[in-house]
Amino acid sequence: MAQRRGRATSRFTGQIRTYARDVPTTSICLCLCLVLFPCAAEAGLYTPSDQIVLLAPGNVESFLVNSTAAMVVEFYASWCGHCIAFSPVYKKLARDIKEWKPAVNLAAIDCAAEQNRKVCINYMIRGYPSIKFFPAYSKSDAEGVNIREFSRDVQDLRHRVIDMLETHSDPWPPACPPLEPTSEAEIDNFFQTNNVKYLALIFEDAKSYLGREVTLDLLQFDNIAVRRVLKTEQSLVTRLGVTEFPSCYIYYPAGNFTRLKVSFDARTFYFSALQRLPGVVRSGKPAPVLLGNITTSTEELWRPFNKSRVYMADLESALHYSLRVELAAHSVIKGEALTSLKKYISVLAKYFPGRPMVMNLLRSVNSWLQNQTANQVSYEAFREILDNSAQAPDTALPEGVRWVGCQGSQPQFRRYPCGVWTLFHVLTVQAYSAGGSDPSEVLSAMRGYVHSFFGCRECAEHFENMARDSMAEVNSLTSSVLWLWSRHNRVNNRLAGALSEDPYFPKIQWPTPEMCSACHSVKDNGEHRWDLEHLFPFLLSYFSSREILTDYLENESQILEKQREKHAGQQQDLAAQKRAERKVRGAVDLPTSQPTVQEEEEEEEGPQDEEEGAQAGASEMKGKTSEPTPWAVPEMEIGRGRRQPHKRPSIVGMRIREAKEDIVDLDSQANRYYKAGVPQLDAASRVKQRTLQREKEQEPRPMVGLGMELDAGLGMMGLELIDADLKLDVGQKRQKRELIGQYYGREAELTQKGGLISLLGIGFSKLDVGLCVVLYVLSSMCLLAMYLFFKNRFRLQRVKFALP
Ligand SMILES: Cc1cc2nc3c(=O)[nH]c(=O)nc-3n(C[C@H](O)[C@H](O)[C@H](O)COP(=O)(O)OP(=O)(O)OC[C@H]3O[C@@H](n4cnc5c(N)ncnc54)[C@H](O)[C@@H]3O)c2cc1C
Ligand SMILES: *[C@@H]1O[C@H](CO)[C@@H](O)[C@H](O)[C@H]1NC(C)=O
Ligand SMILES: *[C@@H]1O[C@H](CO)[C@@H](O)[C@H](O)[C@H]1NC(C)=O
Repeated sequence: MAQRRGRATSRFTGQIRTYARDVPTTSICLCLCLVLFPCAAEAGLYTPSDQIVLLAPGNVESFLVNSTAAMVVEFYASWCGHCIAFSPVYKKLARDIKEWKPAVNLAAIDCAAEQNRKVCINYMIRGYPSIKFFPAYSKSDAEGVNIREFSRDVQDLRHRVIDMLETHSDPWPPACPPLEPTSEAEIDNFFQTNNVKYLALIFEDAKSYLGREVTLDLLQFDNIAVRRVLKTEQSLVTRLGVTEFPSCYIYYPAGNFTRLKVSFDARTFYFSALQRLPGVVRSGKPAPVLLGNITTSTEELWRPFNKSRVYMADLESALHYSLRVELAAHSVIKGEALTSLKKYISVLAKYFPGRPMVMNLLRSVNSWLQNQTANQVSYEAFREILDNSAQAPDTALPEGVRWVGCQGSQPQFRRYPCGVWTLFHVLTVQAYSAGGSDPSEVLSAMRGYVHSFFGCRECAEHFENMARDSMAEVNSLTSSVLWLWSRHNRVNNRLAGALSEDPYFPKIQWPTPEMCSACHSVKDNGEHRWDLEHLFPFLLSYFSSREILTDYLENESQILEKQREKHAGQQQDLAAQKRAERKVRGAVDLPTSQPTVQEEEEEEEGPQDEEEGAQAGASEMKGKTSEPTPWAVPEMEIGRGRRQPHKRPSIVGMRIREAKEDIVDLDSQANRYYKAGVPQLDAASRVKQRTLQREKEQEPRPMVGLGMELDAGLGMMGLELIDADLKLDVGQKRQKRELIGQYYGREAELTQKGGLISLLGIGFSKLDVGLCVVLYVLSSMCLLAMYLFFKNRFRLQRVKFALP
């Protein structure tokens, strides 16, 4: 306990130190709070990043009573050691069965929090952690069914959840697919009553859970249904000649069967293969067509590419966007952000596998930046170096974006965030190959960059949660490569099915068995296991500089020429500007002077819009220029059109904000959709209609809002059947650290919780802040009183001494 407090406190003081210079009073207030109310900041064990519903008095009813999805609820106390030790297992379970959400959802509530106590008493909770199951459509007086003696094993827990789901009596909840074994008679009529393209039949022992698991895994996919067939269903077994159990066969409407080809007959492999059958799509998403046929709304030409390769064009585009667009939103960079920027640029200069021209530029930016000893840097000054205003030879970063492997089917999909991931994967691999000395160098640069600058703030928050949880475990260059890969997969898991997912590029656990079959393996108990012996070399080769394709890059001499022109243009404009200013000043009273100024401003606006168009891929560009490569031209025009270079940052800042929202604010967009519930309801009905209908249930049941709306805050999740244990060199320490890591991370995570207001980037509830203020005032008054008291006393004494 003491250790936990100690760590949590030192974390906070660390933060306070950063701000202390600016706001001393507030920091005193914070100290008071921390000293007097160490519990005011008590965190629960889960955050919204965990895909677990966080229950509180305000939402208990809506989740536990009359819900279309069954609920599994963990009642815990944040101070209880067992609960802390169990929380990683529960989180893993949440990732593991996230595709089951419409049928069964996970929730948790912290009974140690004062405001939750009554809820826990109502549900008769006596010990922690307790897990209870609430069937779908529970009544308001339902207490839930205790799941007793659960283990800390995810597979075991998953099976218990299925057992509980099967206790649903008639009427079977429509959101839950049928789980009972099927028969030959049922299958023969299957396609008459179900509008799907495939029926996957999983042949297995009665004891096996595989069939039911895969049924639930594919619950949210259209055009496919999954049923289990028992080994004892003799007629079917002989008809198909099934000899292996488990095995999976696909049954087509035409009446034929084929065996599903997978490297292992196990859950992940079935899920991955079935999901990829032609025509199978996530409910509510359009069916992908051939990539070449995508017409993006930008009308930019689609650039064909190989999905299994990394493109330099994406990396350079990510650099451009990061350094010229995202950073430009910060007109002055100082403090923590400046440190982040220095680290980021230093890592780029060291490890970016760029062309000589780009490397020259990165090195010059780096040496300039590292020489800045002031505690702040203006973006304007940074940009001068970035644009090579000094005209050093053979030094440039191409302007504009030109996405290739990161192209999206719509302008709001993929692009920059995809580029950021790719960039940092490449950097971790480059650091490994170059034998860097600091294992966490690249990751901490990424963490800093994302924390300080990444425009999608919600992404940054999620990433920071992950980093805080486990980045400290990275102790070698190998584990740094693997850490990023595994956390990226976690993000993929969380985002699978979310509205930010490009239907043409579904979020998957990467690499798929098709990309690297040797990377996948199974444990003795049938659970998926990443084979790190194969995976690691795969990552090294996939992201190695030798393998990066240079297709679609603008050639160097063109880029340099444009840079020269732009520079010359700027110089000219500067001179013209000065002349104009002199003229305006001289003729300030003449009526003709007004329009001149306005004209200039209008001229400036034109190209601005166009640049934004290039960034966000807007279609306005088309009317203005018929250039096939529009991204480069308007940028140049901006350079020319700009009369006042010193005005640049503010202009850029304004423009950028819009572009940024367009591209990265995906989660909030997703939430909006979910709240509106438009596409989901439709999808939901399809999920239900797919369920095998018994004779008496031929009519589709009345539409009931599915559990999907419940996901509003969390997004629809993809399957992570997999949790890399980073065994190569971090595995051993991990177990030991698990507990400490939990202690360490929790308090801090609290700051990310909803319902907290953000003060100086540290979250405190209104109550906390209120208390702080009261305490601060009280203590000041106390000090004042003491001061006055002693002052009077001394005066009295002095008077006394003076008297005799
Ligand atoms: C730090 C960070 C946090 C984010 N958080 C959120 C968030 O909270 N909510 C949100 O809506 N969006 C978030 N995003 C954006 C989201 O992760 C995707 O980048 C975006 O949706 C585009 O997806 P994509 O299909 O291009 O694939 P991306 O996930 O961007 O991946 C890009 C490419 O990397 C490869 N790849 C995929 N998985 C792996 C892996 N595990 N290891 C190595 N390579 C892989 C694939 O070739 C893929 O095409 C975040 C992005 C970043 C950089
Ligand atoms: C439960 O929900 C269904 C529809 O979701 C509704 O028809 C019914 O009235 C609800 N019952 C209660 C007790 O709220
Ligand atoms: C894509 O790249 C992979 C890996 O290098 C290669 O095996 C494959 O043949 C390429 N595909 C195409 C269509 O070029």
